[in-house]
Amino acid sequence: MIVLEQPEALRSWRKARTGSLGLVPTMGSLHAGHEALVQASLQQNDHTVVSIFVNPLQFNETQDFDSYPRPLQEDEDRLRRLGTSVLYRPKPAAMYPEGFETTVQAGPGGGGFEGEFRPGHFDGMLTVVLKLLLQSGADRAYFGEKDAQQLYLVRRLVEDFHVDCEIVACPTQREADGLAMSSRNVHLNPEDRVRSTALFQALSAARVLFQKGERRPQALEQAMQAVYRQAGLQAEYAAVVDDRTFQKPAGESSGNWRAVTAVRVGSTRLIDNLRLDAGD
Ligand code: PAF
Repeated sequence: MIVLEQPEALRSWRKARTGSLGLVPTMGSLHAGHEALVQASLQQNDHTVVSIFVNPLQFNETQDFDSYPRPLQEDEDRLRRLGTSVLYRPKPAAMYPEGFETTVQAGPGGGGFEGEFRPGHFDGMLTVVLKLLLQSGADRAYFGEKDAQQLYLVRRLVEDFHVDCEIVACPTQREADGLAMSSRNVHLNPEDRVRSTALFQALSAARVLFQKGERRPQALEQAMQAVYRQAGLQAEYAAVVDDRTFQKPAGESSGNWRAVTAVRVGSTRLIDNLRLDAGD
């Protein structure tokens, strides 16, 4: 595995190689969820680039940016073990050099849910993802379903800007008790770790009701809220969306519904989601 830090170096590396390239964009603090993305890329491509860049543009709280875990050596060792071709680890000055001023703006699908509670987050995320796709020239890029709204917006980005890259979605990786794997889980104290299972329980409650035939979004949302009340938690949102628009469902069709939620457990903000019509 080689480590590159400059966009030009990554571009030259790519130009000197034939065969397909998979990109796994990350902010580091790698866990089994990231490993699944890397494994998928390794299986489907001749080369795999993993980027680690804690993107300042997508943090709306300085404290969240500062406290974001950065176990650099551990991440590097893990990627080497997996068989990654390139670790791309640019510094902020390489990604956002002096004079930088052009950014991507998320469309309506980025307005609600995460977009509402983290203003500017998706514009920053899309800006860096576009940069990474262009810098690497990747044929495929891998994203986890845990960040379902991000995945939706990245798919839109690629389509709307005619970027020649296939976006591959990988299922959410969960702990044995259902908690979705996330770099932020390390911040949970033991008591909050127990309470954090409420997210998966709330989503599962909605799915059970849906599978019994409930089609009123409000009733599904109430089922999620009941789980949170019992756990002594207050959701930022617990909602049902249409996966094709990331808006509240309109009309009768319920074939693409997803329950989405965000909750602060202690000082840690967690998000999760579940397709209502699937058994993952
Ligand atoms: O999901 C993430 O870790 C980040 O949002 C991403 C896609 C690496 C962009 O910074």
